[in-house]
Amino acid sequence: MSEAIGARIRRHDPSDMYGRIMALGGQIDHALAIAARFESAIEPAACRAVVVCGMGGSAIAGDLARDALGDRLGVPLLSVRDDAPPAWARDDALVVFSSYSGHTAETLAAYERLRDGAARRVAITSGGELAVRCQADGVPVCRIPGGMPPRTALGYSLVTLLATLRAAGVATYDDAEVREAAEVVRQVCADNSVEASGALALSIAEELRECLPVVYAASRRLAGTARRWAGQLAENAKTFAHHALYPELNHNEIVGWNAPAALLSQAVIVSLEDDDDGDLARRQRDVGLELVAPAARGVVRVSTPAGGPLARVLGTVALGDLVSFYLAMFNGVDPTPVERIDTLKQRLRDPDA
Ligand code: F6R
Repeated sequence: MSEAIGARIRRHDPSDMYGRIMALGGQIDHALAIAARFESAIEPAACRAVVVCGMGGSAIAGDLARDALGDRLGVPLLSVRDDAPPAWARDDALVVFSSYSGHTAETLAAYERLRDGAARRVAITSGGELAVRCQADGVPVCRIPGGMPPRTALGYSLVTLLATLRAAGVATYDDAEVREAAEVVRQVCADNSVEASGALALSIAEELRECLPVVYAASRRLAGTARRWAGQLAENAKTFAHHALYPELNHNEIVGWNAPAALLSQAVIVSLEDDDDGDLARRQRDVGLELVAPAARGVVRVSTPAGGPLARVLGTVALGDLVSFYLAMFNGVDPTPVERIDTLKQRLRDPDA
């Protein structure tokens, strides 16, 4: 173990965020058992779309499910990250309310807006007000274990969402894929642990020190993963980060890599790349990167681990979680508390707080 990083962990990680990140593989396995019990409570039904209402660490499950399922998702999946699901969601959509705490104002408001509609509703939560309202309304609730920072419960929120989509008849996948993903996550964690020599996550975190991380992904397969990296860099490392996809950023953002030069010369591009990226996606990525790289301080290219789509997505998520953790250690901050989010939630509940 690198002495320096070990000492930093002892000093800056009193709530053991490191242990929570390293436990993701086991959490995915546990989530499979929870999901199997919940799946039997969901009836298949025709629906034209899936709407996932949630915020932050609970919303990302919707994006990652869409990315990993790809064409195996038979209907569009819309992630709603505010209190206003579209009016059409009231009709023949499957609406999943995903809130780890069950107390998030936007998700509860979205729930109220769809309360009288005909939409099929399901909730994924550890409890809170969302569970209370669902129970009163006879809406199925998938209860996941409580007491964790929501962003560390991704295994639970994602695997139970996948099972919900399969049980509703809008997605196909095999549990073996989920087990494979758990295995790949465990391997990524082992390869990037504090005991491992030459851990990639540690060296990426080193590169991102005192920099502006810009996370770019080549294709939609890694869109949610890029968002997760930026979210985890913000919440764990307390570092502002940006994310975007090459196909679109090549048509606008690319031109902006001129100014402000003082800021962009401190930017490090993290390019998330998937073996499955097609020819056009590779060219979009390579040409886009070539055009902006000279303006950046550095470029780190990250390839997804080997495996099926879910394993590649979750393996890359696990790597990003560890990068954000190590960067928190270099920044000398405790990765667990998210004080601004807590203040915001308190003020949304009580404007005078
Ligand atoms: C904190 C975190 C946040 C929360 C978000 C919504 O760990 O990840 O992004 O997920 O504030 O809260 P929940 O998930 O309880 O609905």
